[in-house]
Amino acid sequence: MRKISLFVIALVSFSCFGQNNTLNLMPWPQEIIFGDSNYIIKPNFTISVNQEASKRIEIATTKFLRRLSGRTGVFIDEGFAFKSSEIENPSLEINFKRIGKLELNEDESYQLKVSKDKISINAATDIGVIYALETLLQLETNNESAYFFPEITINDAPRFPWRGLMIDVARHFEPLDVIKRNLDAMASVKLNVFHWHLSDDQGFRVQINSRPKLHQLASDGQYYTHAQIKEVVQYASDLGIRVVPEFDIPGHATSWLVAYPEIASKDTIYKIERYSGIFNPTLDPTNDETYEILKDVFTEVAPLFPDKYFHIGGDENEGKDWDKNKKIQAFKKQHDIKDNHELQAYFNSKVQQILKDNGKIMMGWDEIFHPGLPKDVVIHSWRGTEAMLKAAKLGYKTILSKGYYIDLLKSVETHYTNEPFPDTHDLTNEQLKNILGGEATMWSELVTPLTIDSRIWPRTAAIAERFWSNKAINDVDNMLKRLEVVSFRLEELGITHLRNRDVILRNISNNQNLTSLINLTKICEPLKGYQRNKGGTQYKTFSPFTQFADACNADAIDAMHFNENVDAFLKNNTKESKTELLKLFKKWIQNNVEFTKINNNPTLNQLAPLSINLANLSSILIKGLEQDKLNKEDYDSATELIKNLRKPIVDTELAINSGLERLMSKFNKKH
Ligand code: ACM
Repeated sequence: MRKISLFVIALVSFSCFGQNNTLNLMPWPQEIIFGDSNYIIKPNFTISVNQEASKRIEIATTKFLRRLSGRTGVFIDEGFAFKSSEIENPSLEINFKRIGKLELNEDESYQLKVSKDKISINAATDIGVIYALETLLQLETNNESAYFFPEITINDAPRFPWRGLMIDVARHFEPLDVIKRNLDAMASVKLNVFHWHLSDDQGFRVQINSRPKLHQLASDGQYYTHAQIKEVVQYASDLGIRVVPEFDIPGHATSWLVAYPEIASKDTIYKIERYSGIFNPTLDPTNDETYEILKDVFTEVAPLFPDKYFHIGGDENEGKDWDKNKKIQAFKKQHDIKDNHELQAYFNSKVQQILKDNGKIMMGWDEIFHPGLPKDVVIHSWRGTEAMLKAAKLGYKTILSKGYYIDLLKSVETHYTNEPFPDTHDLTNEQLKNILGGEATMWSELVTPLTIDSRIWPRTAAIAERFWSNKAINDVDNMLKRLEVVSFRLEELGITHLRNRDVILRNISNNQNLTSLINLTKICEPLKGYQRNKGGTQYKTFSPFTQFADACNADAIDAMHFNENVDAFLKNNTKESKTELLKLFKKWIQNNVEFTKINNNPTLNQLAPLSINLANLSSILIKGLEQDKLNKEDYDSATELIKNLRKPIVDTELAINSGLERLMSKFNKKH
């Protein structure tokens, strides 16, 4: 047995790990002890559970058996787990002590042992068991003759207790099946908080019986009924996932005012917002009726969400309508409220009381921070780590989303290397404990049920590792290698991030041969940051999100490969990297031949310059690589082509641009 401790992990890179390097675990466990044999998966595979009363384990073991037989093709004789009293010598013996509570700091640890003829899971709670089963599935592998689990002992527990994914269902509504499959995927990478952003300028998504105009007038008919919310909360609970609702107030609140304009800060007619951005409509904090409506709504929804925490948003309220409202100005004077931040703090304190009366702890984006807040309020930092550190230092619990904005479509590396604990800070260890973890945020301005999975996954698995695993687990190449496997396994849970690329391309091309288009998606990435929807007015909420950009993802695979090989080639001039580059250039020349074979239409026409320019550039650069130089004419043509390729095409950018420019610098010196 070889034991690899975290200390060793900190000292050596993954590439030195040998056997370790073949495991595609994510998040990486805290401690692994390797063995040399394997547990072979055969039809007589059985599971026993030491207690009867865990619905979670009943569901998890059944799903485990289906996934195991589904991926291996082994016809497992028994489709369900047994009680330990019912079976002798089970293949997998599960022992747990108690039903886990869905609350912060619940024990999520587990031990998983695989030996040649037995597997065991031991955990304090059934939630730990769920995680152990996910780890075991990630261990499953095969050789020519068998499917098996490698001999191993894993002792595991999370680094942070709050590991979340936020999904915004206001900008684009997401039906229940989308939510449920994402909950399954969350559990598969040990995320434990689903933050449900349920209201914003673009829609109010919950049935409210006491104030029915909210769902009747402000949702376009797209809202969750109470029964549906209960179904999601139960589904999440069965996976060990807490559900934290968010109703964003007092800004981002147009939808509330479509229903109840009488609580607005400006007297006007409100319509559901169709664009993206920061808008003026805001609740009137000086109007008693505002609090009456909030009380009715929050009192009605509080029991639907059993979690203690309740998110009130609070972000980006610029208070422009407050400034223009004489009554609000008079109120500020009368109560000695010096600015809009203080006025929002006044508003928050009243909301906090409503939530407290309903047994809830308030949380909000970092704008809600105010030194007068009760100490149990949680600050959700999105603008910078400073806000998080300041709040933590003053004794407030905090979570971090800055750096985990997956809607920005930055590289997975960016998110993975975003460490919640900054390198320098002046917090004591006790204060550091106030940093509870973080959340990836899936804002939905530019996603629909068709594309949302490809924006969340597989990248969120890497973020999940940041929240679960030791800080020293930070080797990007190793993460990327493991992520490739984790990614396709997500399909087992119904995640559509891979398959919907082709759904979109079939639609664009009218069901022609997709090969050339697929190859283009492997080098193009959707515009990053908020470039795709500048000013928030290019797209309305009901615009088509079925375009080439929607078939591309944030980490274009061939582009990553190309850029890496350019670096290797420039650094060491290796034969392998040159061969890889030549292969890619030849692929792109041939790709243009294939592209010209499909019948164009207005959408495909837009891609033609990209395909042709890239093919022409590839021909020149093949010459350059083969002759180790470019003549002036070729150099100038290549420069012009690269200039053209740098321009965004149908909301995507060519992700090989940086590599092309670096490669050209080599020829620059020579021609
Ligand atoms: C936010 O992104 N406005 C929280």
